[in-house]
Amino acid sequence: MDDLPVTKLSWAAFENLDLIEKAACMCDGGREYHVLYAQQFGRERLDHLGRLATAIRRLAKTKDGMYALRNMLPHKRAMLYFAQPSSRTFLSFDAACQILGMPVAEVRDTSVSSEFKGESKEDTVRTFSSYFDLIVMRTQLEGLAERMAWVLSNSERPVPIVNAGSGKDQHPTQALLDVYTLQRSFEDQGGIDGKVIMFVGDLARGRTVRSLAWLLTNYDGVRQVFVAPPELQIGADVQALLDARGVEFRLAEDFDVSLREADAVYMTRIQDEWDSVTGESRRINTGRFHFQPRHLDILKSRAVIMHPFPRRQEIDPVVDSDPRAVYWRQMRNGMWIRAALIADLFGCDAQITSDEQHRGE
Ligand code: CP
Repeated sequence: MDDLPVTKLSWAAFENLDLIEKAACMCDGGREYHVLYAQQFGRERLDHLGRLATAIRRLAKTKDGMYALRNMLPHKRAMLYFAQPSSRTFLSFDAACQILGMPVAEVRDTSVSSEFKGESKEDTVRTFSSYFDLIVMRTQLEGLAERMAWVLSNSERPVPIVNAGSGKDQHPTQALLDVYTLQRSFEDQGGIDGKVIMFVGDLARGRTVRSLAWLLTNYDGVRQVFVAPPELQIGADVQALLDARGVEFRLAEDFDVSLREADAVYMTRIQDEWDSVTGESRRINTGRFHFQPRHLDILKSRAVIMHPFPRRQEIDPVVDSDPRAVYWRQMRNGMWIRAALIADLFGCDAQITSDEQHRGE
């Protein structure tokens, strides 16, 4: 781990880098170490993780395959440190670790850890690193995961940190499962290249959209359409990143019109937990951005409807039975891609791929 560039920088110097420079600091001799930003993932790695997730998914279908997977990481332990509510991310990381035979512990409520007694986040995470080999963390504090990655990288137990959602900022592993879902959905339609991806809802505060919008810049000719009320439109910082990457995108309010050209519709919930004044979001008319059964007649026959979940009223449950609604499969894909990510971090990716090929012969 001596080569990890982040170890050569003071916190002040690291903190002041731009996102692309920070992402480059997380790579140790060609292999990513911490997973903090969507900007750490290029096309090659996305393809690799997708293939690995599929190999794991196939192996897990049989008892022998499952035994082989459980033998991959029984010597490593993971801490799931979730200081913000979660169902899918927490459970899918837990399940992913189980698939790879990795014992797991959890802290989900800081009022039952020594943080309640005033212990700092730095000391809390260093304590976890004393007992575990991987820390998966969700926090409502923007920038905390990268701060902890810097702290651990400069300690004697520099275990990797995976960002499982940080503030309104980034949710890179959600974006990975979204891309894996798109890879699978468009497998027989020429892949993700050239597709129109429409994001709908609270794009200003939705960290999943921010991370996925970036990952999609790795694909050729993808057009992104951001459909939201003006108050909840995608941030200027994301627009600047897309501009810098030469990505074609547009902002819109016309749900029905935009829907006609979409190959994937990515619905999101109103993130009112971030309201600065209680009830602020309720003053915005969001009903016109809901996916209703009548929209199924407008949607392309081979398009897909996605949602990171949890959902409220954004998608009528009647839509669930339409084959284009892939959000339940998308959720399950989270387990496979997170298992692939962990396997890749600990270097057992080649073994898994070889096992899967061997069994398929
Ligand atoms: N999509 C997602 O992050 O869900 P959870 O908040 O339930 O983990």
